Amino acid sequence: MIKVIVVFCLATFGMSATVSVASAADRSGEQVYLDTCALCHSTGVSPDLAGQSPPYETVLFMVRNGSNAMPAFRASEISDGELKNLTIFLTGLKPGGAKQ
Ligand code: HEC
Repeated sequence: MIKVIVVFCLATFGMSATVSVASAADRSGEQVYLDTCALCHSTGVSPDLAGQSPPYETVLFMVRNGSNAMPAFRASEISDGELKNLTIFLTGLKPGGAKQ
């Protein structure tokens, strides 16, 4: 029953049913964006992030905490590695000077 509810929730929010935990399975920043963020951010429902280059801290905060109509995403949904990829994709920056 719980499994049915989880599948239903994932389907409802249009997210990938793949729950990534291992860093080896990290999706690219673009893939995470397409899987999870484009639903709102490329449809006019939410602020368009394209070309906005939001700061690293803003992306980090928004994804982990949410704000108003924006849901928070846990590490089981977007791993830390994927969040880093996503941030690099959105900002074009490499946080902490780290190489990807
Ligand atoms: C269910 C719709 C929804 C999804 C999915 C979503 N967001 Fe948002 N996002 C919003 C809304 C609504 C706001 C505006 C929130 C506010 O003003 O408090 C927002 C704001 C933001 C902002 C701040 C932009 C600004 O101009 O203030 C960033 C950065 C952001 N989202 C990143 C993301 C990322 C990265 C993802 C994917 C992991 C994502 N969002 C997924 C709805 C969504």
